Amino acid sequence: MAKADGRLIVVSNRLPVVITKGADGRCVATPGSGGLVTALLPVLRDRGGIWIGWPGTSDPECGTEDVLAQAAAGTGYSLLPVTLSEDEIEKFYMGFSNEIIWPLFHDLPSFCNFEPSYWEVYTQVNRKYARAIIRHATPHDLIWVQDYHLIDTAAELRRLNSDAHIAFFLHIPFPSLDLFLKLPWRQALLRALLDYDLIGFQTLRDRRNFIQCLRTLIRDVQVYGKGQVLLARTGQREVRIGHFPIGIDYGAFANQAATEAVAARAAELHRLLPNRQLILGIDRLDYTKGILLRLQAFRNALMRYPKLRSNVTLIQVVVPSREHIPKYFDLRSQIEQLVGRINGEFTQPGGWVPIHYVFRSLDPLDLLAYYRAAEIGLVTPLKDGMNLVAKEYCTCSIEEDCVLILSEFAGAAAQLRHGALLVNPFDIEGMADAIYRAYSMNRAERQRRVHRMRREIQRRDVFWWVDSFLKAAFARNLDAFPVVAAGV
Ligand code: G6P
Repeated sequence: MAKADGRLIVVSNRLPVVITKGADGRCVATPGSGGLVTALLPVLRDRGGIWIGWPGTSDPECGTEDVLAQAAAGTGYSLLPVTLSEDEIEKFYMGFSNEIIWPLFHDLPSFCNFEPSYWEVYTQVNRKYARAIIRHATPHDLIWVQDYHLIDTAAELRRLNSDAHIAFFLHIPFPSLDLFLKLPWRQALLRALLDYDLIGFQTLRDRRNFIQCLRTLIRDVQVYGKGQVLLARTGQREVRIGHFPIGIDYGAFANQAATEAVAARAAELHRLLPNRQLILGIDRLDYTKGILLRLQAFRNALMRYPKLRSNVTLIQVVVPSREHIPKYFDLRSQIEQLVGRINGEFTQPGGWVPIHYVFRSLDPLDLLAYYRAAEIGLVTPLKDGMNLVAKEYCTCSIEEDCVLILSEFAGAAAQLRHGALLVNPFDIEGMADAIYRAYSMNRAERQRRVHRMRREIQRRDVFWWVDSFLKAAFARNLDAFPVVAAGV
């Protein structure tokens, strides 16, 4: 049985590293800097641990244990690779994970490609991960599997006779029963989840959906308890089911956003785009982010509220992602056409350009400066597990004078609904009205709203997330487990 002070084995599809091949043919791996790695680092360092995952490359020379050892040097944990063949990348990663689970769990079943051969490769790759875990884990370790690519990993471990203590966190939403029922492998996937000892969701909405699916599809299941963590029993198995909204490293974002360098870069942005409010959208290239509808809403706002013309500029940053999947490739050209069309309609030559479009990832200084400079943040996904851009944006508002326009279908809305202007991302006029309302909002109201959101983001930061998840994994008595504030 895993011990509360045993090692942590983190397993995710992608390792937290960036691997590049230099002109001399040498591969260089640098440690990743995302929220998950920041949160888990102290725990991995204290307890010792391993991170198992795909190095993100099919180049046989990169992604080796030696290359990864460079990136892990001094971090206190080791990085161990699971390599994927081209066929596995196509059918497991791009196929089952990103052409079936991703769109279905984000309520877009018509975007799914239910290709039968994907399932077999999905289970085969999950078995690969299970074998890597067995090779490296001891019975005292807690195995913590991350996200939708690896739902079947615990089931594969059980098939290999492992009785390890295995926890799972789903970073994306869990769909409603009606949608889940469309999945040809619905029974197998749900049963696979029940092979974990703890399943964590982002929000109460996701946990409710999951329990409704369990009650409908698993005949002998019983669900007990109340509060943040429930217990499901089926046959001999007992599974804990909780909701743990993921957060950001509030302290790090707030401190860095307050530096002179960021203030200077933010001031420069206002100097370059003077006498107007800046509206910011930052998204990974993804059809779930609602970028097209958001652009239409911006256009609608410019048409219906002429006062906005030349008094606002939308900076839309799109970070390249999954470009080998046709739906993503198509989306990029649709966004670029629409940006061109709106700019063509409203640009004043030699003067105001309504949309500044950036297609690349921003370096950290620019990202913080854009967050800090923008008076209005537009975060309008059609559906999102959490959406950390919303949290990062509020945190970087050092003067606490910004307005967040947030989709009611982002997981973050459960926590930020008292401070944000909530919108339905399918309602173009409603979003346009919200843009105008944000533009017109007085300073006192902005401050009151954003202050409230920043306190919540600070209270439930990413360290709180890791702590509360690990407590749920190890708590003896679930009744003693604290209840998260209502509505979260
Ligand atoms: C989402 C998923 C993550 C994933 C990330 C980037 O946030 O929840 O698991 O790593 O997107 O996507 P990619 O396909 O590049 O790993």
